[in-house]
Amino acid sequence: MKFSALFIVNLLIFAMPNIYAQSELLNSLIPKPTKVILSAGKFTFDNKITVKSTNRRLAAYFKNRIFELTAINLTNSSSANEKTIIFESGLLPNESNKEAYNLEITRSTIRIYGNTDEGIFRGIQTLFQMIPPKIKKQHNGQPFILPACRIEDKPRFRWRGLNLDCSRHFMSKDFIKRYIDILAYFKFNTLHWHLTDDQGWRIEIKKYPKLTEIGAWRKEADGSIYGGYYTQEDIKEIVTYAQSRYINIVPEIEMPGHSLASLAAYPENSCTGGPFEVTNMWGVMKDVYCPGRDSTFNFLQNILDEVIQLFPGRYIHIGGDEVPKDRWKECPRCQARIKSEGLKDEKELQSYFIKRIVNYLESKGKTAIGWDEILEGGLAPGAIVQSWQGHDGAIAAARLEHETICSPTSHTYLNYDPDNLDLKIAYSFEPVPEDLNAEEAAYVIGSEVNLWTEHCPQEKVDTQLFPRILALSEVFWTNSPKNYDEFYNRLRAKYEDLDALSIKYGRESKLITYKIDRDSDNNHYIITFDIHQEGIDLRYRLDGLMPTYRANLYKQPILINSNRQLVVAAFRDTVYLDKKINFDFIFHKAVGKNIKLMNNYSLHYRANGDNSLIDGIRGTNNFHDGMWQGYEGVDFEVIIDLGTVTEISKVVPRFLLNSNSWVFLPQKVIISISDDGIEFTDEKVIVNNISQKNSEIIIKEFQADFSTAKARFIKVFAESLKVCPQWHPGAGHKAWLFIDEIVVE
Ligand code: ACM
Ligand code: ZN
Repeated sequence: MKFSALFIVNLLIFAMPNIYAQSELLNSLIPKPTKVILSAGKFTFDNKITVKSTNRRLAAYFKNRIFELTAINLTNSSSANEKTIIFESGLLPNESNKEAYNLEITRSTIRIYGNTDEGIFRGIQTLFQMIPPKIKKQHNGQPFILPACRIEDKPRFRWRGLNLDCSRHFMSKDFIKRYIDILAYFKFNTLHWHLTDDQGWRIEIKKYPKLTEIGAWRKEADGSIYGGYYTQEDIKEIVTYAQSRYINIVPEIEMPGHSLASLAAYPENSCTGGPFEVTNMWGVMKDVYCPGRDSTFNFLQNILDEVIQLFPGRYIHIGGDEVPKDRWKECPRCQARIKSEGLKDEKELQSYFIKRIVNYLESKGKTAIGWDEILEGGLAPGAIVQSWQGHDGAIAAARLEHETICSPTSHTYLNYDPDNLDLKIAYSFEPVPEDLNAEEAAYVIGSEVNLWTEHCPQEKVDTQLFPRILALSEVFWTNSPKNYDEFYNRLRAKYEDLDALSIKYGRESKLITYKIDRDSDNNHYIITFDIHQEGIDLRYRLDGLMPTYRANLYKQPILINSNRQLVVAAFRDTVYLDKKINFDFIFHKAVGKNIKLMNNYSLHYRANGDNSLIDGIRGTNNFHDGMWQGYEGVDFEVIIDLGTVTEISKVVPRFLLNSNSWVFLPQKVIISISDDGIEFTDEKVIVNNISQKNSEIIIKEFQADFSTAKARFIKVFAESLKVCPQWHPGAGHKAWLFIDEIVVE
């Protein structure tokens, strides 16, 4: 007994030096610090530690956060303790970066120092990341061990933001605070808060109460009312919370476009006078603020006066993107303004608008930021340009010696599906456009992750942002050379920490690929799935219902030999990862026969190519699902050859309505049959009876009944709208027609 106990103790002692390897220390850190040096020894973190800081707020924050993360209570620590944590500022005199910090851990002391408290704060986050995830999960005040080490670190960019759209979907005050903590943890320093848009005005303005009484609420397609807003008290609370976490909040008050919610409340600021409703449609709306009226500017300046009172930071974002000029072209006041100001056209009128607001903000000591459209018609002096349509806006701004935030859709729009903008693409992002020389490059102050929330309510934000936001946190912060494989290893280790922080992370990339094999007689299909992320399960059902995490686990290829609705969904444990694939298998008479398309489908929406309209698989209501074939601006016509004369009772093509995405139903569908493929008879005309204005996504079957006709050939013609109708935001542009399957019974 005695011997074996000793033996175990010895093993433990010998194992000690290995408990923390350099790789393990590094694995706990995203973004990667500039320099990490592991040394001998360890610091035991328990409740017998004295925290010393000249900044009492910082010390209080530290103790509170340690308690939140570990349940270790440092508030009663006495000065007799042998261990100390010291925060010291003013100690990196040769370093100009105010966020730089050093972190040193020895057996008795943790020292975090920099030139500023902001730098120390960033270093504290590094320390928080080093706390083992198990300790955070157990959360019972148990001591833990930190390795002795020395870390030197500073950010590459001074602007590292997240743009959170709280207009399209409202997010609670507590949720915003939670995200402020998350941003701080991963060393972001800016929350760009998108507070107003066509679909909702979310900030209380005392002088204009209707902005929230009317503008904060929209009627959804199902008749329900959706909305919410932040009171000025809420905003003060959030701003204070952010300040103590060194996160700068930049409010965005959109103008002159994306302003329908405001115009619904105060239509007198539009060109036509309204009336308007807060819209439930996504897209770019034609009704915008009228710059022909001085009263519009008074209104906006009064709003900005209140915004300035609420947000002490230097920056106010004023939008400026996606402004259709239709109304201005027809508005006598706007045209008079163009004349009186000697402007060339409506683009210069946009520039006039922005300049007037930028100047106003400047007179109040604020700096305006606008999306890259503020370059149109001449850039306002002093404004910062946020480039979203590629890098061009950033290049133009830098060459005009304006500061710029480079956040192109291609790499930073995390509202895009991870199928298309995956982790690797995000990690490959370089915020400084390569066309810029060193002097110009200095105007690129940083970048932002963007999350537009049309399809992302609060409960989906984690899965949409994570893990991809971590790739961008590293891109924005890290000075050392990037290596995707090395980052990916650290990310895999970080997942446990995300779990411990209750961050419901989602997909890294295109999670699932599949192939469908069909036997030569079209009697059955075999569907094989591949999963491209570790720790993910596929669950499925065959009755068209959504699987839960308890549904059948996919282990081997699935055989289908009768009509079935297969739904496959991805889960990480119990968390649904917002990825499902539906297959509606239908064994009908045209499956595997020949088809001739008379018009070309779009190469962007080709489905499975020519034969996908008679492959026996119907799509979901998502036209991106790979089953739908899209036709842009043209009618649809096909001839199906069944090979031999066959008894036909009905022919059922399906089309899609998704007016928000410019996808409309055909006006009518004409179906006829033939024995020789030349003369078609028995023509059936099915007229569309669903309003194209319906904002829901609808799949409509256009069924032709033939009782018991016999024929070898079937012709299906569908008359497209070809252009978006006058009432639609895309009026005059090409309209889409989408079809998935033509079922022949
Ligand atoms: C934007 O995405 N319209 C800035
Ligand atoms: Zn006007």
